[in-house]
Parts: sequence; structure tokens; C-alpha cells
Amino acid sequence: KQRTFIMAKPDAVQRNLIGDIMQRFERKGFHLIGAKLMNVPRELAEEHYAEHKEKPFFGELVDFITSGAVFAMVWEGENVIATARNMMGKTNPAEAAPGTIRGDFGISMGMNIIHGSDAPETAEREITLWFNDNELHVYEKTINKWI
Ligand code: GTP
Ligand code: MG
Repeated sequence: KQRTFIMAKPDAVQRNLIGDIMQRFERKGFHLIGAKLMNVPRELAEEHYAEHKEKPFFGELVDFITSGAVFAMVWEGENVIATARNMMGKTNPAEAAPGTIRGDFGISMGMNIIHGSDAPETAEREITLWFNDNELHVYEKTINKWI
């Protein structure tokens, strides 16, 4: 089964959106295997967003991600990486469709509520970066055969 790394960013935590975000993934049928509330060390934020190191907004991005607690999650399920990206909506909340997480809750590019891995290789990299093996929990749900 595919896994993806999802993070409710500091704006989502401050605005009490963790429950709403998790409920969307639960109701969709995805399976939660790891979750934690944490403050993000600067080195972790820089490593996570390393692909954007040369971009003009990199400093602002790292400042934002380290500005308050985040809620980090690992979700599992068929095609979860691409499906989660669809549920999140476009990067710029102004362009994200209503019904998506960013479309429903976000306004600006800088504070866009949620992060999700964008490909299988990034998902693997990010899960390893953010979670220890003993923080990922494998368990069965009897409803799985219906999803
Ligand atoms: P993430 O899930 O956070 O990685 O977003 P994404 O994959 O949809 O977008 P991308 O990886 O291209 O950009 C990472 C983050 O940088 C985005 O979520 C934005 O918050 C921020 N970002 C991207 N482009 C800009 C920009 O032009 N200006 C500013 N201020 N922030 C940007
Ligand atoms: Mg990205």
C-alpha cells in the first residue's frame, strides 16, 4: 500500500483545523499509521524544503514552518499520494477549488494550511525525515475490504 506524508502547517494548528483535516482523510477511507504534534527545528524545515533552497521565498517559508506547532501525519491507502494532493487543492489557495482543503480554508500562498508529498520518492524521503520507524503503527481495520 502507498504511504504519504501530510502536515497541517502552523496556520492550520492555530486555526483549530487539525480535526477537520484529519476527518477528510478518515472519511475518504485512508488509514492513519502515524501522527504527532511538534515544533519544527530549523534544520528539519530546511531539509524538508531543500528543493526550494535557491528560491526567493525560502527564508519566509522556513520562518513560517518553524513559527508554531505543526501536526505531522502519515496516511496509507491506494493511490494516497496523488489523491491527497487533489484533496489539498492547488498550492495557491486563491486558485484552489472550493471543496479542497486549501480552497476552503486558505487565502495566501505563504499560509496555505497543509503540506503533502508530491511523488512516491518524495513521500519515502519525507516519511523517513519526519518519523522514526517506531512511530509508524501497522494495524488492521475490518472495513478495509469495502474501500
Ligand atoms: P508543499 O506541500 O508545502 O510542498 O506545497 P506544494 O508542493 O503545493 O508547493 P511547492 O512545493 O512548490 O512550494 C512549497 C511551499 O512554498 C508552498 O506550499 C508555499 O507555501 C510556498 N511557496 C511556493 N511558491 C511560493 C511563492 O511564489 N511565494 C511564496 N511566498 N511562497 C511560495
Ligand atoms: Mg511541495
